[in-house]
Amino acid sequence: MSKYNIPHHVAIIMDGNGRWAKNRNLPRNNGHEEGLKTLSKITPKVFDAGVKSLSVYAFSSENWYRPKNEIKHLMDLFEKAIESNFQYMVDNRIKFNLLGNIKKFPSSLQKKIKNLEEITKKNRDYNFYLAANYGSKEELIFAAETLRDSTSKITEKSFKNAFYAPHLPDVDLLIRTGGETRLSNFLLWQSAYAEIYFTKVLWPDFKPIHLKKALEFFSGKIRKFGKIN
Ligand code: IPE
Ligand code: IPE
Ligand code: MG
Repeated sequence: MSKYNIPHHVAIIMDGNGRWAKNRNLPRNNGHEEGLKTLSKITPKVFDAGVKSLSVYAFSSENWYRPKNEIKHLMDLFEKAIESNFQYMVDNRIKFNLLGNIKKFPSSLQKKIKNLEEITKKNRDYNFYLAANYGSKEELIFAAETLRDSTSKITEKSFKNAFYAPHLPDVDLLIRTGGETRLSNFLLWQSAYAEIYFTKVLWPDFKPIHLKKALEFFSGKIRKFGKIN
């Protein structure tokens, strides 16, 4: 894929798990399990394409309003995902970071997250951000609260430094699967100049060919950032 202009940071809103299951008369939780399999298959393809940072939206701050059983299943899946991808992250020098407020997670999950963050913190080749209990509005409020008593002038840089992950680069390519054309409170600030690719493909059906299409979409864009070419 080297002939393409490669985005540095790809962010994915992995939507459509529930509908994938419904289409098959399966419980929604089966859709989430398939979604996790897709994530494990797509992540190496993203990095193989030359992308350095990948952020995936796994659970929004609004997803707590879902039924308890679905939330519990998702928490269990996150634990499984961390366990089963642990070695992959270590072997491929991927730095793992949780993006969001982990305090509401079960303590066993919090421990696994912190452990993986600690073990991969010196990795420099790639970055993987798992956005879970993430909400962009909450993140902006968090930053404003952090800086409230500061006497220095607030700048774009100092404001960004107060985010959950200050080192998270701006999003170059934002992909949303599942057919909805909205951001659902994901990386609002960081996506200010993102190229946004919406696809009707449901996340469990998302294959490397779909990723290739999204990367081709990006490579055809002229990014002006407000300027004239
Ligand atoms: C995205 O799939 C995963 C999460 C939000 C956890 P959904 O569960 O939103 O799937 P649909 O949109 O109902 O199909
Ligand atoms: C966005 O999907 C959140 C994740 C993919 C984790 P939702 O399914 O929660 O978004 P809405 O409710 O359709 O906007
Ligand atoms: Mg959805």
